[in-house]
Amino acid sequence: MDRVTAELLVRTGPDTPMGRLMRRYWVPVMLSSEIAEPDCAPVRVKILGEKLLAFRATDGQAGLVDEFCPHRGVSLFLGRNEEGGIRCSYHGWKFDVTGKCMELPSVPQLADRMKIKSYPVIERGDILWAYMGPKEHMPQLPELEWCMLPASHRFVSKRYQASGWLQAMEGGIDTTHASWVHRFELEQDPMHMHAEANKYIKADRNAVFDIEEAAHGLTIFGRRNGEEDSHYWRITQWIFPWFTLIPPFGPHALGAHMWIPIDDESCWAWSINFLPDRPLPAEELQAMREGKGIHVKYLPGSFVPLANPGNDWLVDRQAQKDKQSFSGVKGFSIQDASLQESMGPIQDYAKEHLVATDRPIVMARRMLARSARELEQGTAPPATDAASQRVRAASVLLDRGLKAEDWAKEALTSLDQPVFSV
Ligand code: FES
Ligand SMILES: [Fe+2]
Repeated sequence: MDRVTAELLVRTGPDTPMGRLMRRYWVPVMLSSEIAEPDCAPVRVKILGEKLLAFRATDGQAGLVDEFCPHRGVSLFLGRNEEGGIRCSYHGWKFDVTGKCMELPSVPQLADRMKIKSYPVIERGDILWAYMGPKEHMPQLPELEWCMLPASHRFVSKRYQASGWLQAMEGGIDTTHASWVHRFELEQDPMHMHAEANKYIKADRNAVFDIEEAAHGLTIFGRRNGEEDSHYWRITQWIFPWFTLIPPFGPHALGAHMWIPIDDESCWAWSINFLPDRPLPAEELQAMREGKGIHVKYLPGSFVPLANPGNDWLVDRQAQKDKQSFSGVKGFSIQDASLQESMGPIQDYAKEHLVATDRPIVMARRMLARSARELEQGTAPPATDAASQRVRAASVLLDRGLKAEDWAKEALTSLDQPVFSV
């Protein structure tokens, strides 16, 4: 990718074209449970390069406001969250969840005119989402399948990733890598083991792609050899601008990710597992909580993975030799994170050499770049219609004569259908 386009895609601050594009969507900010109780401790959160403060007021309403007090610039993280607002500890100025100044003790007559930045928030799917764009363009609320399910059907986690959002997200679009870095993990992990899919993924490392532009973004049909008379297809959706769905493995829960810039050199990698029609089984839920599958173990008291760049992702050369792990790094998400973080905080895109299997990435980049440029010219951004997000990934064996694209037009049209998974 040329440097100009790369810069366009990786810069997401408020005064950048990509930043303006992203701010036209509901942005996943944090887990609702990070501000679990009314009047609980406020939480600093940086998102799209903006330093913000989340808190839950006395009535339970969540707020997302500028982190810093407009008086002298003190962090409201040190403030008191009480009686319907956050009060700065320095001189007592107080703000509600909408950013309105409730009290300005030293000059009360100024209170009406004082305000801090605040963003509308909603809570859905165990997540606090914010809308950070122009008020008149607020889109419909997100309707991704997993966030509309009862809480018992879903497990959501997030982890800090020390790399730009794009190189992280591209791992979610590039499904060929499952045959490589994840290959030994497939039969060991409780959320992947015993799936027929593992056999095909391991046997055929050269997936071939058909890609379709759709209302939600892209649908990526990855074909591998199946049985003698069949192909094995993994059907993955990229939902504009930062969601990916993971084709399922046997009877296990479906998976999804979100890739949200903290700033240009770090991002939140969200991982979600869900079952459309039933609660997650207790053993799988327990395994997810323990950081198995697409989830991770953390450094205590943080969302930073235990295996991180500071300790070379705990790479185990013996496990690599023994074919317990392809790269020596353990766990799906840390395998992904390690490779993407190893590229540097922002990959040098001008130096890469893309090949045919990278076509899904190329198409996603084109759509992002085109949408960012067009928005600057006044064209409305794509995929803001929430209903378009109601799509589901699939993992199927189809007759060799059949194209997954054609099959999907008949079979993969509604979320009321059973999950297609082998
Ligand atoms: S700095 Fe916040 S009230 Fe003075
Ligand atoms: Fe991966």
